[in-house]
Amino acid sequence: MKTIGVLTSGGDAPGMNAAIRAVVRSGCENGFRVMGIRRGWNGLMYGDMYEMNLRSVSNIINRGGTILYSARSPEFKTEDGMKKAIEVCKEHNMEGVVVIGGDGSFRGARDLSLRGVPCVGIPGTIDNDIACCDYTIGYDTAMNTAMEMVDRLRDTTESHDRCSVVEVMGRRAGYIALNAGIACGATTILIPEVDFDFERDVIDRMKKTQKTGKRHFIIIVAEGVGGVAEMAKKIEAEMGVESRATVLGHVQRGGSPTVRDRVVASQMGYKAVELLKQGIGNRVVAMQKDEIVDFDIFEALNMKKSIDLDLYKMAHEISI
Ligand code: F6P
Repeated sequence: MKTIGVLTSGGDAPGMNAAIRAVVRSGCENGFRVMGIRRGWNGLMYGDMYEMNLRSVSNIINRGGTILYSARSPEFKTEDGMKKAIEVCKEHNMEGVVVIGGDGSFRGARDLSLRGVPCVGIPGTIDNDIACCDYTIGYDTAMNTAMEMVDRLRDTTESHDRCSVVEVMGRRAGYIALNAGIACGATTILIPEVDFDFERDVIDRMKKTQKTGKRHFIIIVAEGVGGVAEMAKKIEAEMGVESRATVLGHVQRGGSPTVRDRVVASQMGYKAVELLKQGIGNRVVAMQKDEIVDFDIFEALNMKKSIDLDLYKMAHEISI
């Protein structure tokens, strides 16, 4: 019987469990022995894995986090780490590994593929910052969590005629900020992809809306822009509006996945096994225009993705 492994690596994302479930279930159904590798590449280097069966993935589709645990693994990037992983793959006759994670995890998958262990990547990150995919597992849940949190902040912000400056996750990408910002009617959204001028984009916009009677404000800032505490102080000093800074942080990474995350994760897990079944490795499963497709890992890692600037423009035009 052929053996394949599945692991989750990098920052966890709601929906990863649904992807694991799909890999294990379709793997078993297609006659594979499926090994669950714990804590990402670390588990592969040190042989920390166990055989999974249809029932190992019962009651997980609704759970956030990852039952296989996750880690970032600097050792795996070294030649020595790679050798350890290859040895373990040989020991277990591992003929393929499904890697659920972000770009960093795919670089590991590419390097392992180059050394003869076929890998298939599944995009799992709340940031939606994987170039070959319109959509990554966890993104929808994270956006909805951010929206719910900002809605709560709005209640108290409005009661006190205040300004809330809210940092949402997204180190290099403003997807969560842009969409949560639109959904919450933020006065201004600041994202790493677009240069901003504090006076023009924050203060002047606040003043403009103030003239039409607005008395409370929500400013959404992507993590990659940062500086919410300083911004709140400046707003208070320049506008005389009491301001509070809130960093939503890791709450956005947890929680029960939305329908969309569960369904897409299931489709992607299923597709990954289909590829391995046909003996195809070195691929990344992706979603493009609502279709599940796959790309060569090398090609996928060289692709570029840009945020929708029309959506960004619209967000500001309708938030006055
Ligand atoms: O990549 C997902 C992400 O949540 C980013 O938005 C954030 O910058 C980073 O991970 C946080 O990483 P850590 O969990 O290591 O603090």
